[in-house]
Amino acid sequence: MRNIKIKGLLFDLDGVLVSTEHNHFLAWKSIADQYQIPFDELDNERLKGMSRVDSLKIILQLGDVWISEHEFNDLLHLKNERYLNSIRQLSQKDLLPGVLALLNQARSKNIPCGLGSSSKNAKAILSLVGIESYFDVLIDGNMVEHPKPHPEVFLNGAKQLGLSPNQIIVFEDAESGVKAAKDGGFYVFAVGNLHIQNSADAFVSSLLEFNLDEYV
Ligand code: BG6
Ligand code: MG
Repeated sequence: MRNIKIKGLLFDLDGVLVSTEHNHFLAWKSIADQYQIPFDELDNERLKGMSRVDSLKIILQLGDVWISEHEFNDLLHLKNERYLNSIRQLSQKDLLPGVLALLNQARSKNIPCGLGSSSKNAKAILSLVGIESYFDVLIDGNMVEHPKPHPEVFLNGAKQLGLSPNQIIVFEDAESGVKAAKDGGFYVFAVGNLHIQNSADAFVSSLLEFNLDEYV
C-alpha cells in the first residue's frame, strides 16, 4: 500500500494485540466435543472475529445440532467461563510482537488509537495486559448492534475518533474483521494470518513489520 496518509489507527484485539485466539479455540473445542461435533483449527478460522453468539451458532450448524434457547444460553456462559479461566494469568508478556512499540510510536506522533473488537471481555483484557491507557476510543462487543462482518464496530470507532474511514488503518487477523473494515471504507492490514492476506490491502506477519512513519 503506497502513498496513503492516515490520521488514526484502529486495532482488533484477539489475535492482533493479544495472543488469545488459541484460548477461544480451546474453549469452543471443549463445547464442540461435548456434542461430538468435529471442530478443528480450520473450522475455527470461520469463528475468528465473530461474536460469541454467532460463533456458537456456527459450531452447532457444523454438527447439525439443535438445542433449546435455554441450553444455548447456558453454553455461551460455559464457554465464557472456560475462556476466562484460561486467560486468568494473561499479562504484558502475552502482547503480540510489535504491539507496544507501535502504540508508543503512535503516541509520540499524536496519532490516536482505537479498539474495534467483537469481544465482550475486551476492557478486562486490555487491563490485564496493561495497555488500556494507549486507547483514545474503545468499541467492544457490548456496544454494537451488528457484530463483524458488519462494519459498525469500526465505523463507531472512526466517528468517536472524529475521523473518516479513509483516514484510518485497521489491523485485523480475521476474515470477518477484514470484511467489516473493507466494507466500512478503511485501509486494512491483515496481521499474521496467511488465510486472509489476499482480502486485505496489505499483509504483515506481525506488527513489528509495520512502520507508521510511512503513513503519516
Ligand atoms: C473476537 C474473537 O475478538 O471476539 C472471537 O476473535 C470471539 O474468537 C469474539 O468469539 C467474542 O469474544 P467474547 O470474549 O465476547 O466471547
Ligand atoms: Mg481478531
